Amino acid sequence: MRLSAFVAKTKNKKPLRLSAFVAKKPKPKKIKLCDFVPSWQNQPKMKEIKLFCPATIANLSCGFDVLGLCLDNAGDEMIVRKVDQKGVRITKIVGADLPLETEKNVSGVAALAMLKTLDELDFGFEIEIYKNIKAGSGIGSSAASSAGAVFGINELLGRPYSRKDLVQFAMQGEKLASGNAHADNVAPALLGAFTLVRSYSPLDIIRIDSPEELYATVVHPQIELKTSDARSVLKQNVSLKSAITQWGNVGGLVAGLYTKDYDLIGRSLHDEIVEPVRSVLIPGFDQIKQTAYENGALGSGISGSGPSIFALSRGKETAEKIAKAMSDVYEKMNLPYEIHVSKINPDGVRIL
Ligand code: HSE
Repeated sequence: MRLSAFVAKTKNKKPLRLSAFVAKKPKPKKIKLCDFVPSWQNQPKMKEIKLFCPATIANLSCGFDVLGLCLDNAGDEMIVRKVDQKGVRITKIVGADLPLETEKNVSGVAALAMLKTLDELDFGFEIEIYKNIKAGSGIGSSAASSAGAVFGINELLGRPYSRKDLVQFAMQGEKLASGNAHADNVAPALLGAFTLVRSYSPLDIIRIDSPEELYATVVHPQIELKTSDARSVLKQNVSLKSAITQWGNVGGLVAGLYTKDYDLIGRSLHDEIVEPVRSVLIPGFDQIKQTAYENGALGSGISGSGPSIFALSRGKETAEKIAKAMSDVYEKMNLPYEIHVSKINPDGVRIL
């Protein structure tokens, strides 16, 4: 049969249903804590844990929804406490006007998603959240809270899960915040360094160490841009030409990180698909980006869904020079802003 005839013949056929061939997934079993730890009683009597929950930069220009990095010195604090009363309660939120109801709070939802997979406990947890990362800033505010809650509870339970396992639960907090369970903030918040979500189904996350001298500068113009709004403006289709450019750059960025090739990292920080659509929502975006390059940035783009703008550079000195130049732009525009210069955090959420 000639190829054109074959294509014509198959064109109008209904696609085969793969489910007919693939065995049904078994229902996940609930995890018994005693499978992992001798028993709660034998664990050190840790009842309370204080955490640093880091801010993160998602997307990194070319990697919408798949790439992210963890910041070192910007983040929230959280206290997670084991209490007699069953369930999860958010007892205090300082620094932000966020709901205390467990089911309406990202950390509560993430914690419940995790506890649902465990045998019922005869105790519960309280969470206190001390927010420094503003909601709608583009540096992973909801991710920090979701990651902190599941990490803290996991520690108090004697670590039934690995940090990588916890990503799936923290993603449920992201779903509540933005309507989409993206992992590109919660993965670096939990694992540190850079992370790549190779696949969402099944979830497959790869942690990538950062080259030593890599620094991030992030400026946050003080406006709030909800991730859900920033997602609603995106086109649902991309051209093959843009896709080729984009996946070339994702590969280039990952290769650059592994080989510590700073120039390759810089060449790969380019976004054909999302940045052109979202950047119009960010005041001074083009000027900030241009300034970053003029002052030695390897690359620059929107941090997560914005409005924060990031630049990566080699060495602290350059990162600080960029911060100064970015500040000048917003000073001239009379626009309030916050700015961070940070090393890449290799650890993710940590105990204080
Ligand atoms: N990948 C997500 C987005 C990150 O860009 O919508 C949100 O911080």
